[in-house]
Amino acid sequence: MNLKINGKQVELSVEADTPLLWALREGANMVGTKYGCGVAQCGACTVWVDGQAIRSCVTPVSAVQDREITTIEAIENDPVGRKVVDAWVAHQVPQCGYCQSGQVMAATALLKQIPNPSDDQIEAAMINLCRCGTYNAVAAAVRDAAKA
Ligand code: FES
Ligand code: FES
Repeated sequence: MNLKINGKQVELSVEADTPLLWALREGANMVGTKYGCGVAQCGACTVWVDGQAIRSCVTPVSAVQDREITTIEAIENDPVGRKVVDAWVAHQVPQCGYCQSGQVMAATALLKQIPNPSDDQIEAAMINLCRCGTYNAVAAAVRDAAKA
């Protein structure tokens, strides 16, 4: 299976129905994307496919062949992603950190689509779960990244 991950063609020996999350973590050894629930609920596994945030735990690799996959490992190559990461650091958003790569992917996708979102738009878009309860810090960092 040939996938385009972070701008590079990567050849992986995985079955067509393997979830993208497993292909990334175990096939490509890119472990920044996390496994949380496995059923498209928590968002820990969020990556982009053609710039859209998707849940890689329920996306088979066969669905993303020939498409652009972007993971947390490359987020700082994106100018908006860079601002989001800086805001995350400034606000010291992560606690345990487990959900945070998914949060950053979701936040960056939001700001690329809506550069200056309202609080309601932030609340509607940032639905990734965080067991540590970093929601207020996430929203504050998204607002700052929008202004940066
Ligand atoms: S691991 Fe994919 S949404 Fe929870
Ligand atoms: S920072 Fe711990 S789950 Fe979100």
